[in-house]
Amino acid sequence: MRISVFGTGYVGLVTGTCLADAGHEVICIDVDAAKIQALQQGHIPIYEPGLADLVQRNLAAGRLHFTTDAAWGVSASLLQFIAVGTPADEDGSADLNYVLAVARTLGEHMQDYKLIINKSTVPVGTAEKVQACIQATLSQRQVNLDFDVCSNPEFLKEGAAIADFTQGARIIVGTESARVRELMSQCYAPFLQDQPQKLIFMQVRAAELSKYAANAMLATKISFINEIANLAERMGADIEQIRLGIGSDPRIGPHFIQAGCGYGGSCFPKDVQALAHMAEQVGYRAHLLDAVEQVNHQQKQRMFEKLQDALAKTQGRTSLAGCTLAVWGLAFKPETDDMREAPSRVLLEALWQAGAHVQVYDPQAQAECARIYGTRPDLDLCTSIQQTLMGADALLICTEWQEFRQVSASWLAQHLASKLVIDGRNLYDPLAMQAAGLRYYAIGRGDSLAPIL
Ligand code: UDX
Repeated sequence: MRISVFGTGYVGLVTGTCLADAGHEVICIDVDAAKIQALQQGHIPIYEPGLADLVQRNLAAGRLHFTTDAAWGVSASLLQFIAVGTPADEDGSADLNYVLAVARTLGEHMQDYKLIINKSTVPVGTAEKVQACIQATLSQRQVNLDFDVCSNPEFLKEGAAIADFTQGARIIVGTESARVRELMSQCYAPFLQDQPQKLIFMQVRAAELSKYAANAMLATKISFINEIANLAERMGADIEQIRLGIGSDPRIGPHFIQAGCGYGGSCFPKDVQALAHMAEQVGYRAHLLDAVEQVNHQQKQRMFEKLQDALAKTQGRTSLAGCTLAVWGLAFKPETDDMREAPSRVLLEALWQAGAHVQVYDPQAQAECARIYGTRPDLDLCTSIQQTLMGADALLICTEWQEFRQVSASWLAQHLASKLVIDGRNLYDPLAMQAAGLRYYAIGRGDSLAPIL
């Protein structure tokens, strides 16, 4: 099939490339000429494992094209994906300006039937707005053309986006039209193999809401386990044992209940807020969503609070001014260089505010850190984990990179003179850490800071 994808951000680029790799003829369109030029050379602007190879392979095969020529993109293809950004407005609602700009472009250049597929994460009711916007543009041109708009939300995890696109648990399409069902079945046929039930058709509004509901449910699981971890700490119980205990119930399941220093990224924080905002607009106060957000906000501050308490307890220090801290992990999760809403940022900013000096290391996100914070005297971007530990009063871990997991307790004890570790991702066995002479504070386990009742 001939497919156009508007927006070469994370979602658009993965969508276009995977569709081309499945044998479709794909044109990716963006208004950013420099980005398009780089993509035409096979240079991708984000770090996503496997994506650069896939882009280059499909460029070479002539199935994938990058252009700023929207008129060509509209006229050449039957299927038109909208995958542009929907940044959060100040009040938490999604900004639809980019989505509606594409809708106008479509209306301006269409000459025959088009199926418009919305992949951007958008508030419930957006498909109707896109429909109305295209219709209004066609009316201005005084032409009457048939077209459909459907919703096809993405469920891509950064770091695993290609596998999620090609072998995801489900593909949701919101439409009431038999013609759209047929076209979307053809589009996704290469990814269904012998599992046709993976393609789920539903109402347009149900598809739009499913995206928010999925992310809000996952964020809820994380805030829930973090709340139990905070309780476990105060009650002398180990959250990792509790996770295994509750996760073995198939109604709960073992996945996505890993306690930590809070969720970040471009989706959970934004989508939980956007859903709470949508709820308000329909006159409903979403107490649970508010609580999920609040617990996460608090959780991101736990690393700093633990550090303060641990320094006071182990070294009798009441101020962080003049302290040197090693921070491992800047990205909001492993296998990405993305620092949007990352717990590391809350920690770094609190440390600087308190007058501390920070020595950081991340396998991928150093450049992003430099881009966000620039050069500053209280930030050292180190080239290895060992370098961060030189003269450090404590080590703080914000991201569960494999490289950090592989470190042994004895290596840490040897290289970290202060012997103080605050682990926001529960990477190590507390008993092994204690046996190596380290003071090890993790999330819901490890040494206790609060008196245990
Ligand atoms: C998420 C959804 O998983 C994906 O389906 C959706 O399309 C986009 O949002 P992503 O933001 O890439 O994907 O990251 P994800 O792997 O879900 O992790 C989000 C955050 O939750 C990370 O900060 C991670 O550290 C945290 N997390 C995840 C936990 O703290 N505990 C867990 O058990 C799982």
